[in-house]
Formats: sequence, C-alpha cells, structure tokens
Amino acid sequence: MQIPRIGAAEAWRDAARGFLQQNIPPEALIWGGAETAPDLFGGGSVRGAARQVSVPRSFLALAGSVVWHTDPARFARLYAFLWRLRDTPHLMTDRGDPDLATLRRMEKNVHRCQHKMKAFVRFREIGDPKAARRSFAAWFEPTHHTVEPTAQFFARRFGDMDWRIYTPGISVLCEGGRLRFLKDCPRPDLPEDASEQLWVTYFQNIFNPARLKVKAMTSEMPKKYWKNMPEAAAIPELIAAAPARARAMAQAAPTLPPARVKQAQAQQARFASSWTQDSAALVAEVNSCTRCPLHCAATQAVHGAGPPDARLMVVGEQPGDLEDLQGLPFVGPAGQLFDAVAREVGLARDAVYVTNAVKHFKYRARGRRRIHQSPDRSEIAACAPWLEEEIRHVSPRLILALGATAAFALTGSAAPLAQRRGRVERRADGVAVLITYHPSYLLRVQDKDKEAAAQARAAFRGDLAQAWERVQPRQLAPRGSPTYTRPQRQPELRTPKL
Ligand code: URA
Repeated sequence: MQIPRIGAAEAWRDAARGFLQQNIPPEALIWGGAETAPDLFGGGSVRGAARQVSVPRSFLALAGSVVWHTDPARFARLYAFLWRLRDTPHLMTDRGDPDLATLRRMEKNVHRCQHKMKAFVRFREIGDPKAARRSFAAWFEPTHHTVEPTAQFFARRFGDMDWRIYTPGISVLCEGGRLRFLKDCPRPDLPEDASEQLWVTYFQNIFNPARLKVKAMTSEMPKKYWKNMPEAAAIPELIAAAPARARAMAQAAPTLPPARVKQAQAQQARFASSWTQDSAALVAEVNSCTRCPLHCAATQAVHGAGPPDARLMVVGEQPGDLEDLQGLPFVGPAGQLFDAVAREVGLARDAVYVTNAVKHFKYRARGRRRIHQSPDRSEIAACAPWLEEEIRHVSPRLILALGATAAFALTGSAAPLAQRRGRVERRADGVAVLITYHPSYLLRVQDKDKEAAAQARAAFRGDLAQAWERVQPRQLAPRGSPTYTRPQRQPELRTPKL
C-alpha cells in the first residue's frame, strides 16, 4: 500500500480503516509511499461492511504523530498495532507492551522535532518591508517529516504575513493565510538580511554565562541545526568567555529594579489619557509590540510625549538608558542638551511633540552597563507603523528629524546627513521634514574636537530656530501664547565632520 508524502496522516487512516474492515492481516500488506483518500476513523469508531471496529482516541492521537516519523516501517508498525488493538482494547494502557513502547518513542521523537522546528526556523525577509503583507522565507532541515503537522503553528503565529519554509522534503507556503505544501523544492537562495546580526545580538544578550551548561545547551540546541541559525556563530566565543564573564557578574552588585518606572508609567498614562480613544489604543498596542526582538531586553516601550495637536514634532532615534527606565523620551543627556539649545532659541519644549523612530532601547550589556546600539533597518521598519500612526494623530506642520536614523525612518532615504542637514525634505504624505544632527552627536564630538563641536552646536541651534520659526502662525501671536523669540541669524558654517 502506497502512502503519499503530502497528506500522509489522512491517507494512512483511510487505508488502515479499509484493510481492517476487510479483515486483512498485517502480514498480508506491504506499506510504502502514493495517492491520498478522505477521512478514516472520524469520531473514533470504524463501521465497515465486514465488522465494526472501535479505536481508542488515544491511538488516533498516537498514530497522528507517528505517521510523520522517518522510520520506513512506521505505517506497518501502526497497522500491526492497530490489528492487535482490535481484539485487545486495553493494549493502549499496557506499559509493558514493546510495540506500544516503540510507537511512544517514535511519537516523542516527532514531538521533539516539531518543537525544534518551532524554535529554530529562522526567517529572512524576501519582499518589500513596507508592503502591507511582508514576505519571509526560511530553510530548515527537520529530522522527521514535521513540516505538515507544524505548519498550523506558523500560520497562527505569523497570520499577518506571507511566509515559506523550505526543507529537503516537503516545503510549505502560506499566502494570504492559505497553506500549500510542495514536494522536493530546490533549496532557495535566501538573502543575507539585517536581522542576522540582530539574532546574534539578541542571543548574546540573553546568553547568561553564569548558567552555562554546555551539554544541556547542545541537547536543547543540537549542533546539526546551527548551520541555519545566525546566532550559532556566536556560541563558541560565548562559551570560551563564559567563566570570566560569570566571575565578573558575581563581583558586580545586582541591578536594582528601577524605582522610577512606576512613577514614569503613571506620568505616561496621564499623557495617554489626554489623547483620543484611538491614540490610547495605540499606546496599548505599542506596549505589547513584539514586531522585533528589541522588546525582549528593553524595560518598556517609550512613547512619544507632548501635546497631541503640536505643530512641531521632533523625532529621535530610540530611547536611551534613562529613557528606557523612565518611560519618557529625551530625558537623558541628549534630551538635556536638546532642552538647553531649545531654550536658547525660545523653542518651548512643552509645545512640541517628541518621539523616537524606534520605541524600544537597543543595547549591549557590558557588566552592569547597557551600551547603546543603533537600531538596524529591520528594527526601524518594524517600528515604522507606530511612528506613522503618531504622525497621523498629531498631524504636525513640520517634523524635526534628529540624526540619520530619524531621517531614514521619516523619509526612507539613507543619503548622508552632512548633505541634508538644515534642509527641508517632503515626505510622500506631504509633511515637511527638517533634518538636523542628533544631540548625541554633539555630545560625542564635544570631547574630540572643540572647534567642530562649536560649529555643530551652532548648526543645530540654527536648525532648531528654523524649525520653531516655521511652525509659528503667520499673524502676530495673541497674548499668552507660548513664548517665541525670533532666532538670530546664524554665522556661516563650515561643513562639520560627522
Ligand atoms: N536619544 C534618542 O534618540 N531618543 C531619546 O529618547 C533619547 C536619546
């Protein structure tokens, strides 16, 4: 009897039911791999012309897994057991039965393989990251035929995207939520993608050297899967460095839970409540965002802050260490520098909506310190819907982009900042974007080159003044409106080094 490679579970059930009804003993059958047929034991009992057969549900569950094992004798084993089960209904609970033990072992292998597949499939983006439905593909080499029984898991998890998992045997394609299985697809040439480095960084961050158990780790993440997992490249180095890191961790005092988080969250909730219901829903969505792995290591998502009808929106890169703890944007050193320069030009920060291109803090842990890492394109793209929603809600007259990440997130252009600083660019939706330095750049350059630092600061000051001026109403402002000081003319600037 030939069982097809796609739809093997149903085909085996159908065939086995037929043979059982016709009273065909196992030794009269040869099982192999061919064409499908409809359902078999339906509700757990078989009614045939020859005789009625009851099958325990526990057997159906067992067979439903064992059919995906790679043992060529799996179909024969199942049928032989089913044949015996017909006359010995308690066989399913006989722990000493060697045939049942073999089937249970095979079931366990299949379950384990499904678990590995769920954990170790690594998707790469193959379509336009800005498309309404993004497309991903992965190459995976399962030990058993687990693509079919595991496909629903991926369909549920990645319901809002199209994806494909190619394997040396059966591959699965999910397009518009519909699953399709294909045989013997060639291995695709998948693009190197930015999230490879992200996986490595993520793995490095979650790796706890103090809890390293190499045997347990390689049993959980067997070496045969490593070649398709970008983060596996970091493992040998992490293992080598683990003892020293563990010693350093033991010497460092534990990090205390951030005491200000509660207060900051309350502050944030107050701000959120000044928005419409729509925007409060956005805040809730961003809080539970898992569109990229950055949410795992960050304390919380940091939302924009400021009047929801601000004329000027300021966009930075991502929250820093303090912002991550306090839950508010630009409260750390970069924010303080921004505030100082804003005061100089009469820009009222209270009247401005301040946010970031990426809402979670990306960092690399070094001892107790968290070292800032720039977000990559996949992270910026993952966060883009939130930024776009904010722009839609606030509908600013002008957006001030602080630094290259913000400029890229807002305009889609990665052209060098030096050529764009101080200029206004138009987004596709018509909103004007004035591009300037990120205040962190001013802080970095301060210690290196005093003259360049002074020039960069003057340029930044000029840009803030220009931004503030551009969002003022044309007529004279009525009394009591936010203070506005006309900016002074800026001296001619040398193009600073970035
Ligand atoms: N840098 C940013 O880009 N944003 C912040 O909120 C803080 C530092």
